[in-house]
Amino acid sequence: MNHPKEERTLVVIKPDGVQRSLIGEIIGRFEKVGLKLVAIKMLVPTPGHIEEHYTLDPEWKRITGEKRVKAAKEKGEKLETEDPFKITDKILEVLIKYMTSGPVVAMVWQGAHSTELVRKIVGGTEPRSSDVGTIRGDYVLDSYIMADTDSRAIRNLIHASGSSKESEAEIKHWFTPEEITDYKLVSEQILYDVNLDGILE
Ligand code: CDP
Ligand code: MG
Repeated sequence: MNHPKEERTLVVIKPDGVQRSLIGEIIGRFEKVGLKLVAIKMLVPTPGHIEEHYTLDPEWKRITGEKRVKAAKEKGEKLETEDPFKITDKILEVLIKYMTSGPVVAMVWQGAHSTELVRKIVGGTEPRSSDVGTIRGDYVLDSYIMADTDSRAIRNLIHASGSSKESEAEIKHWFTPEEITDYKLVSEQILYDVNLDGILE
């Protein structure tokens, strides 16, 4: 088993995150918690790349559709259909438009519990209901109802892998092994070393 500190996760700053000049702010949040940036690049994704990205997990369509139905029930909203697959087909169509509308910044972050930690800092899918203190909760005001009314995707600044399994598959989808750098960060000593020796002179 790999040491937990070697866990890696994928983060993509979406086109609205780049346009809102939040690249530095977002990177800073992950740096401050102690994660290590091991790969980064800017690109304009192709529609095919985005479709494949979101369908890497065969369960994504069902889960995402069901999440939308649950949110509608909680808010008393009426949906055109409650079929999770029909809902997600539409989401995927607008999501591809959104994600290919401009440059994005793709990154790999490494550290203990990185997938879980990044999701916690990013917040829930819908900015309207994301917790205060999260990136989506603090920096954007979009909602399911706003997005659906205008037939577009929810603008929530950032993508983050949802599970360790998703992280592994998504990193392979966005980066070649050569684009990922293995290196030591001096701050890792204070986070992970067994003995804190070598501090005092
Ligand atoms: O990004 P996250 O894992 O939080 O959410 P997801 O359920 O995997 O959905 C992926 C992306 O699709 C979201 O981040 C939104 O940008 C978009 N989406 C949407 O526009 N409308 C929905 N009802 C659900 C998702
Ligand atoms: Mg997801």
